[in-house]
Amino acid sequence: MQKLVLFATGLFWLAVAVFAASGTTTPTAPAPLAVVAEKRYTRADVARHAVEADCWMAIDGAVYDLTAYLPEHPTRPSVIVPWCGKEASEAYKTKTRGRPHSPEATRLLAAHRIGVLARP
Ligand code: HEM
Repeated sequence: MQKLVLFATGLFWLAVAVFAASGTTTPTAPAPLAVVAEKRYTRADVARHAVEADCWMAIDGAVYDLTAYLPEHPTRPSVIVPWCGKEASEAYKTKTRGRPHSPEATRLLAAHRIGVLARP
């Protein structure tokens, strides 16, 4: 009988120990928020895409792949193609004719954004 009491007491404290340990698991750090960084390109990267069949431009700190858009542009290619591979902010803002592009043009432009221009 004495042995049984001892055994039961031991079992009780073992259960207490297991219960206590289960509550002391190391707290896990909250998962970091996913921040999707945009790709960064240098001017040299942009300059490697300077032809009608592969045309990137840097405009106001962002980089655009305009290859697919060029055939849609409502001018002769010779108006826009010279800006492939270049920093074209001024050309975009003035159409080289002192007139800004429309908000619709800027919406189209946004669809071709592939990253940002890295600081030199
Ligand atoms: C950076 C070099 C560029 C130059 C020199 C240029 C020049 C021009 C010119 C001369 C016109 C026709 C004349 C006029 O509407 O006043 C025009 C119209 C237009 N361009 Fe460009 N363009 C350039 C880039 C772009 C880009 C990157 C987009 C869009 C992705 C774009 C979209 C349009 C649209 C939608 C029009 C019709 C008129 C408007 O909505 O403003 N252009 N552009």
